[in-house]
Amino acid sequence: MRITLKIWRQAGPAAKGALATYQLDDISEDMSFLEVLDVLNESLISSGEEPVAFDSDCREGICGQCGVVINGQPHGPEVTTSCQLHMRSFSDGAELTVEPWRATAFPVIRDLVVDRSAFDRIIQAGGFIGANTGSAPEAHSVPVQKRKADRAFEAAACIGCGACVAACPNASGMLFMGAKVTHLGELPQGQPERWSRVAAMVKQHDAEGFGGCTNIGECSAACPKEIPQDVISTLNADFRMSKGGKR
Ligand code: SF4
Ligand code: FES
Repeated sequence: MRITLKIWRQAGPAAKGALATYQLDDISEDMSFLEVLDVLNESLISSGEEPVAFDSDCREGICGQCGVVINGQPHGPEVTTSCQLHMRSFSDGAELTVEPWRATAFPVIRDLVVDRSAFDRIIQAGGFIGANTGSAPEAHSVPVQKRKADRAFEAAACIGCGACVAACPNASGMLFMGAKVTHLGELPQGQPERWSRVAAMVKQHDAEGFGGCTNIGECSAACPKEIPQDVISTLNADFRMSKGGKR
């Protein structure tokens, strides 16, 4: 395949960024998108230029480290992570504009790398759960309804990649936060701190500069783990409860 990459280059957080164009003429359709960036970087390094900075770790769609916007879509045109996106998703001769997540709460560090520590601070604000420590309890000693277990499991699939924020016109982190709140809120172990946890997480979310949800739905459509939008309803209902409201 022959492809043209227009990649956002930015030397540092305060530097002015711009798109730089690169042509690659011998790309296999079986390569992942990050492997294409590896090929580009090898050629940039051989010619004495700065490689393109981008995040990755597992390259298996598990860790949530990778994430770039390709032609306006977070993680590109498929429902998957950037590391699991393959070049067969594009046509020969494609021109791909590659940018970092764009959100006030995710400042650019360099090129395609953004600082997503705001997500960590939201999780930290949520705090610990008050489960007993000691030896592991027998697995079935705490009964959990199948419906609740399934919903907790579905929400727990969130890998914290931030594509929901990048897709949202309000740069809201509410799909991410809704996934985390739902995951614990459905389980018995999550009940003791349920209301204080959601109040603290929402406060931190707003302090980080994320916007509010206005039911656009781009977050869920962009999510590589298909987190459903109704976790935001759970988040809102739990937040109301934390303020003394009713479900
Ligand atoms: S909700 Fe989906 S898009 Fe958002 S951080 Fe979690 S996995 Fe990524
Ligand atoms: S590198 Fe781990 S999810 Fe993409």
